Amino acid sequence: DWTTSNVVDEQVELIRQQVGDKQVLCALSGGVDSAVAAALVSKAIGDQLTCVYVDHGLQRAGESDQIEKDFVAVTGTRLEVVEVEQQFLSALAGVTDPEQKRKIVGREFIRTFEATARKLDAERHIEFLVQGTLYPDVVESGGGTGAANIKSHHNVGGLPDDLQFSLIEPLRTLFKDEVRELGLALGLPEAMVYRHPFPGPGLSIRIVGEVTKDRLEILRAADLIARTELTAAGLDRDIWQFPVVLLADVRSVGVQGDGRTYGHPIVLRPVTSEDAMTADWARLPYEVLEKISTRITNEVDEVNRVTLDITSKPPGTIEWE
Ligand code: XMP
Repeated sequence: DWTTSNVVDEQVELIRQQVGDKQVLCALSGGVDSAVAAALVSKAIGDQLTCVYVDHGLQRAGESDQIEKDFVAVTGTRLEVVEVEQQFLSALAGVTDPEQKRKIVGREFIRTFEATARKLDAERHIEFLVQGTLYPDVVESGGGTGAANIKSHHNVGGLPDDLQFSLIEPLRTLFKDEVRELGLALGLPEAMVYRHPFPGPGLSIRIVGEVTKDRLEILRAADLIARTELTAAGLDRDIWQFPVVLLADVRSVGVQGDGRTYGHPIVLRPVTSEDAMTADWARLPYEVLEKISTRITNEVDEVNRVTLDITSKPPGTIEWE
């Protein structure tokens, strides 16, 4: 019979047997799956696990802190934070094509993770790598169809031959809602456990146009307002995802105070969905949308217009890039 404590006990036992006294590595992305997988492994083998967090500067406001402070506080895990914002910004400079952005972020991520894994492996020989693979991922990669590949998805993977680890995949038999239950049972904060899906390339594919530090800051400020108001309205669990997009290459005329403005539009893209393959635009209450719009235009310099995306998927994708 499925209970969270059964699963935790069973997995802890299996992980201990598999690992013995060897060393284990895990990349934390900020997502639910890698966090729960890491928390589980940490519970099983404590200090034999080292987590790596690549801080590439493309996360939303507060997300790095959630890992570096909250996750570490709960799990006591040893965390290696790699600060590479400048490296990622340089690599993305001048790039506007969405698939190009994905390739660059994927490539820089692997490059960074590989260098870190190599360094840690030299310090304490590492045998295992934790991955937060879920049951649906297993099924999907077994019988993959073209539909899932309209956009290339880059997560961990692709390490060179001389740096191959055996995999630990403690969530392989679980569905998302079971993983969330497990996360709560392991003491992870609700904000982490119920986090909406967030793409690997991060905010780089939510800036239509070139990615720069200034633009990231604008988008982070707008995104934080949207998320804060959604949470305040108690609607987090009613929607699947809430991308906030900056149209960085578009300007429109506005008026604010006693002056004319010429700023950028923000697009709100709240969607409902079961599995991200299809989606519908979420009918958020007008009061919530109004609050978000007023706050963003008042509080975020450079943004003078807030628009709502009312396109379903298909024909629109969830993300704008
Ligand atoms: P789309 O935009 O294709 O998104 O409707 C479907 C789901 O996938 C996420 N997404 C990505 N996730 N790397 C990821 O890890 C990516 O490059 C990527 N592109 C889209 C998107 O947020 C949505 O949940």
